[in-house]
Amino acid sequence: MATVDLTSIAKSFGPTKVLGGVDLSIADGEFLTLVGPSGCGKSTLIRIIAGLEAQDSGGVAIGGASVDHLRAHERRVAMVFQSYALYPHMTVGANIGLPLTMSRMTLRQRLPLLRLLSRQRREILRGIEADVGAVAAQLQLEHLLDRRPAQLSGGQRQRVALGRAMVRSPDVFLMDEPLSNLDAKLRVHMRTELAELHKRLGATFIYVTHDQIEAMTMSDRVAMMDAGDVLQLGTPSELYERPASIKVAQFIGSPAINLLPATLAGSGRIELFGRPLSLAVNGTAGASITLGIRAEALSLAQGEPGQGGRAWFSARLRRKENLGSEYILHFDLAGRDAPGVTTRATAATAATVNETAEVALTFDETACHVFDVGGERLEPRNGGAVSSVVPLRA
Ligand SMILES: Nc1ncnc2c1ncn2[C@@H]1O[C@H](COP(=O)(O)OP(=O)(O)O)[C@@H](O)[C@H]1O
Ligand SMILES: [Mg+2]
Repeated sequence: MATVDLTSIAKSFGPTKVLGGVDLSIADGEFLTLVGPSGCGKSTLIRIIAGLEAQDSGGVAIGGASVDHLRAHERRVAMVFQSYALYPHMTVGANIGLPLTMSRMTLRQRLPLLRLLSRQRREILRGIEADVGAVAAQLQLEHLLDRRPAQLSGGQRQRVALGRAMVRSPDVFLMDEPLSNLDAKLRVHMRTELAELHKRLGATFIYVTHDQIEAMTMSDRVAMMDAGDVLQLGTPSELYERPASIKVAQFIGSPAINLLPATLAGSGRIELFGRPLSLAVNGTAGASITLGIRAEALSLAQGEPGQGGRAWFSARLRRKENLGSEYILHFDLAGRDAPGVTTRATAATAATVNETAEVALTFDETACHVFDVGGERLEPRNGGAVSSVVPLRA
């Protein structure tokens, strides 16, 4: 088992800067996910950890020791690729056992002509077979060991690729979008399997995905990347509940967070559509800010809007999206210079609204996120979390 420490990892391909100096420390046994939009440098970073790509500058240490001088197969890491990279002409058993064949047998012993001759070779083969069997049992692949990859389902191929990584008992598992070739249902199932496998093996997992749900559901911590930099590193709840920037807030969470343009009035109080809220931040009067409100923090006002001093604004239904367990309601903000917003609703609540009339949407100010004009998170003036702002409204 091992820690992984990345220090100022930078990488360019020709004139294109892909990684801008990434610092990241991953704890022993941790499940860390690199998440971010396509092209942000996730694969490049994980390939550098694996030793499949060389960084331009910076260092990789595994278990506290630099591995920069080690080639990929010397690093005690195993990588699982999105494409599985299985050999089509080999059986499942041979595919899983391949890393052991390569490390335990000499080139001579691997030559077909000498196959029948060596007793030593037979002993090595028996050892490999036992190790492959143990891994296959863990992954429920025992009955498939003699098949070839083409005779397997996508999920089974995925397991074979996992088995090939497990068979060397690596300290660190590196996984690059391993579930993206599976259909939606299997992907959900495999999320659970991978999380359980991680628990069982106790190894360090570094997992790459562009799917924020995978990142949120499996990881101990998530590193959100964009354009070659880590924007925020934290637990899934930290990223969801205290996003450091608009980019993180927008990427994490489904439906996407509602973003509304607002301004700072005198005294730092936030005004939304000309109405003062009870939130205040440091900043100059007149400054533009953005208010982030998650769909679950926004709801249809019951009774008179503004009751009990609750913040509200008016909107008109555009579309109802039935998810079975709940509805996502999409609203337009008629006449306002703002994009639409979404809320979650029960079927009963969804039935009370239609496209014909404007409704009032009310929200929990303590659950709002505030971002400055550059998209960085703003903390409230009293220094606590936004959620602990003292209401200014009489
Ligand atoms: N071998 C390469 N040669 C040139 N450009 C590359 C190479 N590998 C990746 N890139 C570029 O680097 C950027 C980051 O790629 P990648 O790390 O694969 O992103 P991600 O995995 O987050 O989608 C992309 O713009 C990609 O086109
Ligand atoms: Mg990639």
